[in-house]
Amino acid sequence: MTGEKNHDGPQWYGRRQGHKLRPSRQALIDQRLPDLRIVLPEDGVLDPQTVFSKSLRDIWLEVGFGGGEHLAAQARANPDIGFIGCEPFINGVANLLSLIDQGGLTNVRIFDDDARKLFAALPGAVFGRVYALYTDPWPKKRHHRRRFISDDTTDSLVRLMKDGAELRLAHDHMGYVGWMLEHLTGRPELQWQAKSKRDWVEAPPDWVETRYEQKAKARGLRSAYLCFKRWPHGTVPLVENH
Ligand SMILES: C[S@@+](CC[C@H](N)C(=O)[O-])C[C@H]1O[C@@H](n2cnc3c(N)ncnc32)[C@H](O)[C@@H]1O
Repeated sequence: MTGEKNHDGPQWYGRRQGHKLRPSRQALIDQRLPDLRIVLPEDGVLDPQTVFSKSLRDIWLEVGFGGGEHLAAQARANPDIGFIGCEPFINGVANLLSLIDQGGLTNVRIFDDDARKLFAALPGAVFGRVYALYTDPWPKKRHHRRRFISDDTTDSLVRLMKDGAELRLAHDHMGYVGWMLEHLTGRPELQWQAKSKRDWVEAPPDWVETRYEQKAKARGLRSAYLCFKRWPHGTVPLVENH
């Protein structure tokens, strides 16, 4: 797979489209996406509250929502939270649009492009929770720099997370889990919440399985669930990460 050249942002590796969309899915992309899509301002910053048509208690982000099953379920369970989902894969976007319509969800907006472009347009301390679930593991060593979790994206995430915000990650690829821990436990802005092995081998109580996770389970693979909390901006933590 070749990388997509972005003249206005970072290089992105991945699929924009899988199989041809059925007419009903194409109709969702043509007719529903324009209402729910986040368009970045030509210049200046985007206040994420303004993308929603009502006032919401908080805004949560999901990067790489795939088919959107997790995002739609969280949005249904938390109607007073605004959800922003980022996903460049158009078949996944169409699936989320159909879940939004089926569930009558009014608290979801979609950025159908590389999340890092959105990050660059946002002010700091805007998200109360961030999910990045089963982001592509890029298992070959020469592709590791394509992984979503990197020093650059961690810089963005700690900037965008509010005081006390949560970052939730999951993966069945243990090499990538180790990589994520390496990148994140070294950050003074974040505290890994696990106190014992049980805390990362078991999913949090409000967890909704993703499609990727279900496929991994069906192949007999276990997942790790990592939860980090952001220390208040501008403070130095009194305890160390472990
Ligand atoms: C392995 S899939 C997992 C999908 C879903 N989270 C799940 O668990 O079923 C990873 C997804 O992340 C998306 N992705 C990868 N890099 C991304 C980025 N920089 N911004 C937004 N989405 C991204 C890909 O398009 C892909 O759909």
